[in-house]
Amino acid sequence: MTDDPAGCPAHPVPAGPELFTREFIADPYPAYAHLRKHAPVHRTTLPSGVEAWLVTRYADARQALADQRLSKDPRRSEAAWKQGKVGVPGEQRSGVGAHLLNLDPPDHTRLRRLVSKAFTPRRAEEFRPRVQALTDRLLDDFARTGEADLIHDFAFPLPIYAICDLLGVPEEDQADFRTWAGMMIRHGSGPRGGVARAVRHMRTYLAELIHRKRATLTDADDDLISGLIRASDHGEHLTEDEAAAMAFILLFAGFETTVNLIGNGLLTLLTHDRERLALRADPELLAPTVEELLRYDGPVEVATWRFSTTELEIGGTRIPAGEPVLVVLAAADRDPRRFPAPDLLDPARADNQHLAFGHGIHYCIGAPLARLEGQIAIGTLLRRLPDVRLALPADELRWRGGLIMRGLQRLPVTFAPE
Ligand code: HEM
Repeated sequence: MTDDPAGCPAHPVPAGPELFTREFIADPYPAYAHLRKHAPVHRTTLPSGVEAWLVTRYADARQALADQRLSKDPRRSEAAWKQGKVGVPGEQRSGVGAHLLNLDPPDHTRLRRLVSKAFTPRRAEEFRPRVQALTDRLLDDFARTGEADLIHDFAFPLPIYAICDLLGVPEEDQADFRTWAGMMIRHGSGPRGGVARAVRHMRTYLAELIHRKRATLTDADDDLISGLIRASDHGEHLTEDEAAAMAFILLFAGFETTVNLIGNGLLTLLTHDRERLALRADPELLAPTVEELLRYDGPVEVATWRFSTTELEIGGTRIPAGEPVLVVLAAADRDPRRFPAPDLLDPARADNQHLAFGHGIHYCIGAPLARLEGQIAIGTLLRRLPDVRLALPADELRWRGGLIMRGLQRLPVTFAPE
């Protein structure tokens, strides 16, 4: 295996598989293996037309995620920002752009400290019975029919209802969130207009909800939005705008990611009989299996945007100032330098320090909740529908396009009715 600096005239990069084609979206791993080997820090043109660097080796990826010279502020890439080509479509114009994933210290530090007070791992754990009840309710709706689309009927609604509950969105309003979430997912590969519209709806709704809750806040209100309103740090509170941006990013970052953990995870288990049967026989394997599923086919293919604030070097490649840098988590988590036999699903893998939740100061704040949802959803489905199987060959399944997320459009299955 070569560690030569990639892309220099003396070591031209051998032509590899094309990026961002339909074949690539269905299975990007061969292309990532090629990049890791021949061009581990690779400048490419994204489908949006933006030029960006892709970082694909584990050691480089981990280092880049923690490198403070890489800013999260999209205004660093002035042209792309003005054209709305970086970040979540419509978030800047809707006034929810100033959130954790777009901020650097010290603003990031202050806001993260405040949200950490309201969104603790203990709060996620206390949510367990509620996630179990939601999972069982969704399964009740289709378990007697003998067939289902596990994305539409299961993986998609569970996280949206879970996050709405956690935030304290009243039950009668949650159907609206399901609609807006659907606009985001459907438009993942299409025009960005749908996402921007959904972001606008969410922002208007959340701002009103925060305003209402603030006016009527009592000690008995233990939802996360009330916690955000109450959270203070050295006497400092979130403004209503900051609380709205925070609620928005919790929803946005916690929704499609978890859909993909459940969807990708179930597909992997449906195509790995030995591991699925072992898991059914021994529920103790649930936690390590979910961890391995996060590494093997993680929900976030590419971490969110970063921008070089100064000229810097990653993995021996020089990156000029002011350029977008994308850390490809899915490629790093299959790096043979870090994970022996990386293309093998191995729930017993030792030292499984994958990067599916990122690394450094932007490490996923929702990881405890995501693990809980993934474990309950996958464990309960396999327990209640023990003979569940794919309704069509895996290679006929369609994947949603899009730069950041990796997930299926549909996951049709059949099973003996309950
Ligand atoms: C950050 C992955 C679920 C909220 C991140 C990052 C990753 C990630 C990779 C870092 C991005 C970067 O550095 O560019 C995931 C995965 C999930 C998941 C794979 C599901 C399996 C959730 C949930 C929530 C959440 C359920 C909240 C309810 C956040 C927030 C951040 C974040 C607020 C920003 C943290 C910061 O910038 O300080 N997540 N996430 N995530 N995640 Fe998650």
